[in-house]
Amino acid sequence: MRILMVSSEVAPFAKTGGLADVVAALPQALTRQGHDVRIMMPLFRSVDRFKYRLLPILRKLVVRWGGEEITGELMRCSYPCRQEIPVYFIQQEQLFGRRGFYGDSGGDYGDNDRRFSFLSLASLYALKALDWRPDIIHLHDWQTGLVAPLVRHHPAIANDLFYSNIRTVFTIHNLAYQGIVSPAVIENMQLPWSVFRTDGMEFHKHVSLLKAGIVFSDWVTTVSPTYAKEIQTPEGGQGMDGVLRERSDRLTGILNGIDTEVWNPESDPWLAAPYSTVNTSGKARCKAALQNTFCLSPEPETPLFGCVSRLVDQKGFDLIQAVLPSLLEAGAQFVLLGSGDPAHEEWFSSFAAANPGRVGVSISYSEQFAHMIEGGSDVFLMPSLFEPSGLNQLYSMRYGTIPVVRNVGGLADSVTDATEAAILNGTGTGFVFDEYTPDALWGAIKRSLILFNEDRASWRRLVSSAMNRDSSWNRSAAVYEDVYDSVLEPVSALRQA
Ligand code: ADP
Ligand code: GLC
Repeated sequence: MRILMVSSEVAPFAKTGGLADVVAALPQALTRQGHDVRIMMPLFRSVDRFKYRLLPILRKLVVRWGGEEITGELMRCSYPCRQEIPVYFIQQEQLFGRRGFYGDSGGDYGDNDRRFSFLSLASLYALKALDWRPDIIHLHDWQTGLVAPLVRHHPAIANDLFYSNIRTVFTIHNLAYQGIVSPAVIENMQLPWSVFRTDGMEFHKHVSLLKAGIVFSDWVTTVSPTYAKEIQTPEGGQGMDGVLRERSDRLTGILNGIDTEVWNPESDPWLAAPYSTVNTSGKARCKAALQNTFCLSPEPETPLFGCVSRLVDQKGFDLIQAVLPSLLEAGAQFVLLGSGDPAHEEWFSSFAAANPGRVGVSISYSEQFAHMIEGGSDVFLMPSLFEPSGLNQLYSMRYGTIPVVRNVGGLADSVTDATEAAILNGTGTGFVFDEYTPDALWGAIKRSLILFNEDRASWRRLVSSAMNRDSSWNRSAAVYEDVYDSVLEPVSALRQA
């Protein structure tokens, strides 16, 4: 099968969160299964074009936007990435050559409609110019949602035989980001006004690019089975639950996997020492290195809690802030890496300044620190309000760092609560709590502290069960293959007929 992934983020080229990790790792798993997978993404300014040896391959990609013509070019990475998956970059200096991906300190860029319309249509034009016709175009999040209606309704695409058998799959990584833009996008992109309906891409008198992907693609997936159910309810649907219920026969929740080569404590170059389920002694050295780097007192027996996250409300920072004083009183240390909401940044920086030796905070984006925290902490905090899938709890488990998570979305689907029985039978992998309250979070933290401080044998068993959990992409990639097969069924039936 030929599969094109279109995404605004792909690791290691451009990343703000888990989307980039998924679009880097899923194609590799699919390639291992024998598929021809390629990736298309924008050339943001921060992509290192020298390191990744980007070469121009199409000098002229022209997209009409209203009365204007926008010209870009196509580049290809010739960097020897694993499995040699072709990665194409849509280059348009004016649109993508900026410091931020989606906005700056003033908020979202005002021309995101233009930017991501260009990405969407230029990606389609590039396919024809390359003479590479995918069976499936797999779209990710609002930035690429417009591709789905373009395939069906854009005059230059819908009437061109080259595109006629292409099917689209749209993955929702986070329903909270909806790509709300002005309805002018419809005319600017030469789409018919018939798409501007409540059963189309209209959303409260605006256009939602996310909704465009949901409504016009052949299949919708999201990144965990529980989140797939949650988003069909008024509480979890962020205003889109009705639309999603309409599509429920073609909506599948598939839990994310992880890249087990990038996230492997046995070979992680960022760790002070390697370790594995068989030999966990290196983890103590990772903890010492983490304490040293974050200026925490060098105390091997002190429980060390870690957190790596975008600092946004979704991740439960009001709960974390409410319980941190008690956590320190209980004798624990805390380390956080993150950036985002200035109010959260400010809160954590002040908290660290007030608690030297006990709390370490880095307000930054750092791959190295992210790996060091996963490797060196004992417990990982992830008490999200909602969590489509979550990758950090998966990384934590693989690194023997016990996650404390709320029972929502992908957290519920991946972490099994460490009851006494679950620890004994080897199924427990973390501490899970239900209610979104500081008390409920504190209850789970207390359970982790008691086990860590008072029953080290059980703690070790729990660590080993967590590390043994299979979070690889194999199983989930097979479900994506089933989805692709389902949307192609009518096409293959047609071919046989
Ligand atoms: P989300 O995509 O909602 O941010 P995920 O758990 O799916 O949440 O993925 C987050 C990814 O982003 C992980 O790979 C995590 O290590 C990374 N990450 C988040 N914040 C930072 C940061 N400040 N520095 C480095 N990596 C980060
Ligand atoms: C989103 C979600 C996160 C998920 C990631 C990758 O950013 O917030 O839960 O893991 O996408 O799918």
